[in-house]
Amino acid sequence: MSPTTPVRFLTGITTTGTPHLGNYVGALRPAVQASRRPGTENFYFLADYHALIKCDEPARMQRSTLEIAACWLAIGLDPDSVYFYRQSDIPEITELTWLLTCVTGKGVLNRAHAYKASVDKNLAAGADPDSDVTAGLFMYPVLMAADILMFKAHKIPVGRDQVQHIEMARDIAQSFNHLYGEHFVLPEAAVDDTVALLPGTDGRKMSKSYDNAIPLFAPPAELRKQIAGIVTDSRAPGEPKTVEGSALFQIFEAFASPAETQQMRQAYNDGIAWSDAKQMLFERIDREIAPMRERYEALVNNPAELEKTLRAGADKVRALATPFMADLRSAVGLRNLGAAAVRKPKAAKAAKAAMPSFKQYRQADGKHYFKLVDASGALLAQSTGFATPQEAGRVVSQLKQGRLEGVETSLQLADGISRAEVAAVLAALAQP
Ligand code: TRP
Repeated sequence: MSPTTPVRFLTGITTTGTPHLGNYVGALRPAVQASRRPGTENFYFLADYHALIKCDEPARMQRSTLEIAACWLAIGLDPDSVYFYRQSDIPEITELTWLLTCVTGKGVLNRAHAYKASVDKNLAAGADPDSDVTAGLFMYPVLMAADILMFKAHKIPVGRDQVQHIEMARDIAQSFNHLYGEHFVLPEAAVDDTVALLPGTDGRKMSKSYDNAIPLFAPPAELRKQIAGIVTDSRAPGEPKTVEGSALFQIFEAFASPAETQQMRQAYNDGIAWSDAKQMLFERIDREIAPMRERYEALVNNPAELEKTLRAGADKVRALATPFMADLRSAVGLRNLGAAAVRKPKAAKAAKAAMPSFKQYRQADGKHYFKLVDASGALLAQSTGFATPQEAGRVVSQLKQGRLEGVETSLQLADGISRAEVAAVLAALAQP
């Protein structure tokens, strides 16, 4: 990448649920700030096809998309300076999904965490492993790869739970490039561990599933009530309070300036009454959220206008997607029969050996790695980092001779893969 090429960031937002303060502090607010960095291009889209996997109520699908779109614009995402669109407005994404499906090993998808979790749950309940599992859930990672690869995104800001999906997108891109030429950029996950994890009203991490979340756009009276419900200890007014382990303090800090935080710390020391601290917290949050809440209400009450914004966003990204998809169709041989002479392939391509293989590569940390994949491309084992490609190569050649001894410490087995399986694969590879 030359220094003048902007770095492309792309994030999908599944259109389910109602955003809460934890989402705002941990994801929405940092994403909007990030969208203003110079030298970057930013893609934000409403992943409504992904939402469809989990939701079969049409009215709720439509409402969630409206609310989530309004939310992003209300908190300050500028649709004129970023790409802001709805996944289902881009038919090229579903089209690409099929091309990618055809280069994705089924075994790779079998190992996706979300799918495996459903299977494990079924097994634990004594049910059929695939009971209630749709093919949509199974294919989730391929659709996600299409989202990313379509726009040649470099960096994908995600939570830890999504890293496996980005790695899969990368592997799928590599398979496609290997077969049809270098069409796709290999994306990388960008996980930010520095963003604050907000506690909920009960002190545990704020999460819908714990029922301790404060909705981002709750009306003021509701916000006040939720804040009143934050757990505190039983120290009386006048008694000094400790900020350590105080959910109220941590939430305050996530919204306040350093000077305001210092004042609150002092107030704790001075024995502020919990009811007064809660009033300060309410005022501080409301000061930041109130203007956004107003914009949010205006947007939600004018869906036709929002629809226009999304259509304009779709036009903007389709200007990229349509020509790229045409190239990809041609690359795989979906071509106009009349446009050029239809030649017979020169010689039948040597049958692709359905064999496990080693792949060497270099990571962003500058180190050299290799991985062992099975015939379908599914990961069996991955190496630790080596300073030089020669060192990695030496270990690979030893393994190719079927010998694991002495190099096991530089190998990490993939989830659910045993040492015996890897040994058997190596023994098979070593056969003359
Ligand atoms: N799976 C992501 C999530 O649940 C949402 C998503 C869909 C996404 N497509 C994407 C995220 C592409 C990043 C890039 O959070």
